[in-house]
Amino acid sequence: MNVSQAFVPVGVRILGTGSALPEARLTNHDFEKIVDTSDEWIFKRTGISERRICKGPTEGAFTLGRDALARALESAGIEGKDLDLIIVASVSSEMTCPSNACRIGHALDADGVPGFDLVAACSGFVYGMIVAESMIRSGRFRRIGVVGVDEMSRFSDYADRSLSILFGDGAGAAVLAADENPELGCQWQTMGSDGSGETHLYIPRRDQDVPDADRDNPIRLGCLRMNGREVYKFAVHKFCEVMERAFTETQLTPADVSQIICHQSNIRIIESARERFGLPAEKVYINIDRYGNMSAGSAGVCLDELWRSGKITKGMPFVLVAFGGGLTWAGAVWRV
Ligand code: UT7
Repeated sequence: MNVSQAFVPVGVRILGTGSALPEARLTNHDFEKIVDTSDEWIFKRTGISERRICKGPTEGAFTLGRDALARALESAGIEGKDLDLIIVASVSSEMTCPSNACRIGHALDADGVPGFDLVAACSGFVYGMIVAESMIRSGRFRRIGVVGVDEMSRFSDYADRSLSILFGDGAGAAVLAADENPELGCQWQTMGSDGSGETHLYIPRRDQDVPDADRDNPIRLGCLRMNGREVYKFAVHKFCEVMERAFTETQLTPADVSQIICHQSNIRIIESARERFGLPAEKVYINIDRYGNMSAGSAGVCLDELWRSGKITKGMPFVLVAFGGGLTWAGAVWRV
C-alpha cells in the first residue's frame, strides 16, 4: 500500500470508469403478464421501459461490482494491486461479512489492499466518491477504486406493482488518483442523512423492524418497502436544495457545467429539477428508461456512459446528485 505519512494537499483526477449490467432484460410488457399494470402507466409515471435483472446463482452484486471495477481498472491502465483502497457502496452485498470490497479485491488480485462496504442506499456512489476524494486529498492515499452496485431484484416483491416496476440491477465504478493539480477533484461537496425518514424506505429483516404504521399491510421480510409519495416529495425537495446550494456556493451557472449526473429514481423527479433550474435536456443525463432505478449503481453507470462517450468535457465541472433511503442525500461539483 502506497501511503504517504506527510499531509500534502493534492488534486484528484478520474483515471478510469467502468460499469456492468446483467444480460437479462425485464420489460414493461413482461410486467403486464405478472401484475395489473401497463407499459403506458409505467413509462408515463416513471420514465422506465426496461431494466436489467440478475439471473441464476452465479450473478449478483458481487459479480457486477467486480466486473465494473475490472473495467474501470482497465480503462485507467492499472491493476487491482495498484490500488490503495477499495470502497463498495451497496445495500445488497451478498454477505454482511466478508464485505464485497474484500471479495472484489481478492478477485482482482488486490489481496492486501484495504476495502470496506459503505451503506448509503441510492446516495452510495456519490458518498463513496466524496469519501475517496477526501482521502486522496489528505495525501495519505494515491489511488482508490469506488464501486456503486445494487442488485435490487433481490429485494423486489414481484407481486407489488407499485415497487417492483421501479428497480433494476447494475454497477458503476471509478478509479480516482492523486494529481499534482490541486484544482482537480471536488470543488464543492455535501452529504447528509435524516433517520427520521427511515420508515419511508426500508428493507425489514425481522418482524420487529416493521414500523407500526406499516403493520396492517402485507409485508415480505427481506423485501423493500417504500412510501412512494413521501419519498417522491423528499426527492424533489432535496434534489432542488442540493442543486441550489451547488450553484450558489460555487458561483457557477448551468452554462458553466458539462453534465448533471443525478440518481435515476423517476424521470418526473429529474424533470422537475431540470425545469426549476432551466437546465437544457442535453446536460441532464438519463438512462432510467433502459435500466430503471439501480440504487447505488445508477450514478456510477451514468458516469461511466458519459465518461466513455466523451460528454464530460475536460476543463468543465460536472455535478453529481443523489438521494435515497436512510434518508440520505449527497452532491458534488467535480472538476476534471
Ligand atoms: O431511489 C429511491 C428513491 N425512490 C423514489 O424516488 C421513488 C419516488 N416515488 C415515485 O417515484 C412514485 O411515487 C411511484 C412511481 C412509486 C408511484 O407513482 P405515483 O404517481 O406517486 O402513484 P401513486 O402511488 O400515487 O398511485 C396512483 C395510482 C394508485 O391507484 P389508485 O389508488 O389511485 O386507484 C396505485 O394503486 O396508481 C396505482 N399504481 C399503479 N397502476 C398501474 C401504482 N403502481 C401501479 C402500476 N401500474 N405499476
